[in-house]
Amino acid sequence: MTMSNPWVWDQTAIAPFYDIFYSDPIYQAFYDNSGFANFGYWDTGITSGKQASERLVEIVAAQIDKPNGVLLEVGCGAGASTKWLCDNLPGLDVVAINIDPAQVRQARERAPEAEILVMDGANLEFEDDQFDVILSVEAPFHFDTRENFFSEAHRVLRPGGRMAVADILLASGSPLSPRANHVTGGASGYAHKLALAGFQEINVEDVTQRTWRSFRRHFSDFITRDPATALSMGGMRALTTINVNSSYAIRNYVIANCTALA
Ligand SMILES: C[S@@+](CC[C@H](N)C(=O)[O-])C[C@H]1O[C@@H](n2cnc3c(N)ncnc32)[C@H](O)[C@@H]1O
Repeated sequence: MTMSNPWVWDQTAIAPFYDIFYSDPIYQAFYDNSGFANFGYWDTGITSGKQASERLVEIVAAQIDKPNGVLLEVGCGAGASTKWLCDNLPGLDVVAINIDPAQVRQARERAPEAEILVMDGANLEFEDDQFDVILSVEAPFHFDTRENFFSEAHRVLRPGGRMAVADILLASGSPLSPRANHVTGGASGYAHKLALAGFQEINVEDVTQRTWRSFRRHFSDFITRDPATALSMGGMRALTTINVNSSYAIRNYVIANCTALA
């Protein structure tokens, strides 16, 4: 029998991981069945996973001051972030991509206004200079590699185009993130990677406290407040995933914006 090392990057693990996530009743209850799959931004007063996820998308979208044109969302999940963008940025035509066909099917149902395609964020199958805005909410850490995504994003943005991302900085050696995506130096290391891809006017903020750390606390509270959930196999597995595996892997959470000048 061959045993694979679970801490080695494996792109084929992405789709099964999200299949489990989107069908798990505990995660779905936490997000009020909204279809979000991000840690959220836990401003004071936010009490639910859905509200926090919406707030995160709102904060990422607010980094961009472009009310008109074409927006590309990269790593759109099951379409909850895409739907938020369609509803709240009416002057922008939304194109979204995801590597997983099952999630793309859900996203098309959730956000029929958008054009949603199966595509790899590290290999954008678009001509040069097609988009005015690129957004990616909590997805670039998955891409093989994040640097390929940055240079592809720069290529498909029109001169003056803007990009904003929310992203996770992981310890090297996660099955869901290539080792090459390890960033040293936190927010300034991340800014350096954007600059290497040709971006300018770069701002990167470390928001680990309001995102990952707050999510961990709220999600753990959500599971343990009901003893039946806390003691179920699913509840114990979810607590372990968040408080052991993810805590081991996750170092920082950043929100960044930048401009692709000519
Ligand atoms: C944490 S989820 C975020 C989903 C959504 N943006 C949200 O906020 O709910 C990350 C997403 O990135 C997608 N993804 C992973 N690798 C990808 C790749 N190489 N190209 C495009 N999407 C990818 C996953 O399938 C998943 O939908």
